Amino acid sequence: MNFIVDPLAPEDRKPFPANLAFGRHFSDRMFSQRYTPDLGWHDAHIGPYRPLSLDPAAAVLHYGQEIFEGLKAYRRPDGDINLFRPWENAARFNRSAERMAMAVVDPEDHVEAILKLVSLEHAWVPDQEGASLYIRPTLIANDVGLGVHASHNYLHYIIAGPVGPYFAAGFKPVAVYVSREYVRAVRGGTGEAKTGGNYAASLFMAEKVAALGYQQVLWLDGVERRYVEEVGAMNIAFVYDGTHIVTPALCGSILPGITRNSVLKMAPDLGYKMSEERLDADQVLADIRAGRITEAFGMGTAAVIAPVGKLGTQDGAVPLNDNQPGPVATRLYQALTDIQYGRAPDPYGWICTVKAAA
Ligand SMILES: Cc1ncc(COP(=O)(O)O)c(C=O)c1O
Repeated sequence: MNFIVDPLAPEDRKPFPANLAFGRHFSDRMFSQRYTPDLGWHDAHIGPYRPLSLDPAAAVLHYGQEIFEGLKAYRRPDGDINLFRPWENAARFNRSAERMAMAVVDPEDHVEAILKLVSLEHAWVPDQEGASLYIRPTLIANDVGLGVHASHNYLHYIIAGPVGPYFAAGFKPVAVYVSREYVRAVRGGTGEAKTGGNYAASLFMAEKVAALGYQQVLWLDGVERRYVEEVGAMNIAFVYDGTHIVTPALCGSILPGITRNSVLKMAPDLGYKMSEERLDADQVLADIRAGRITEAFGMGTAAVIAPVGKLGTQDGAVPLNDNQPGPVATRLYQALTDIQYGRAPDPYGWICTVKAAA
């Protein structure tokens, strides 16, 4: 890909933050390119991180035609940097773009832009235990006008910023509330795409459950409000009898998580039975109460693996594994993060290593 790397002025350089929180700090540079019907993708640049200039009538601001991705770069013990499955991310980016009737990007160019940005921003990859550089590719509709139609013009940009360990207080279970009243997505809708509207739709319930002391919402299917789909920004799995991991089968309204897919591949190698099934929420709650389900955990880029400590319902909370991280979640977290941070070999071909820019 032909892109221009603009020099950084001294005022474009920021100090590395003393405290890493999620999504609060951004590195010095960003990637951007534009799409127009006559030129296609063009004007690819890596330059200083800057506010965007958008017309107030830009399509993205009115009809939400936008998609994004999230992936991480991890500091290896030898100082180089690992990216985890960036090609899967690029493929999902384009699937989301297609679903939202947007211009797709060249996946190779997209990954190359990420690799170049990470290599230039090498010093922004933290070396603190459990921390990483979070990368946020984004695509927005940039037509100016209020007609409701797919945009003809797009802006594709990639920003990155250092993030601390998700579990600042250690590998602690999260409290999850089962949403019976509100739904996140429906089959045939946009739940499979990583588009802002899905997240906007989730915020009302997320705020409600936060007031009750829960960190995440467990979403059920949008039609019968009965079958388990996913948790906030994570896929979910339940462990039966300590050995059998069951995750909801993808059905069109669940985001196909890359961490979920990695667990599906890895779990059998660690000696667990793994299956994708349709899970009735009432049956799940009954199985937890009966001790058949021994633990549950979320799977996603931000937390990697997040043990679930309790499921909240209108009839009260149902604890899981005495509100402690279970052995299966702990083992998977260890095994996956060992590959991501380069502490263990990667037998799956998931890792792409980047050297610091010369
Ligand atoms: C709604 C939703 N589900 C699941 C996931 C987990 O996906 P991944 O493992 O690719 O991060 C995410 C995060 O990206 C998400 O936003």
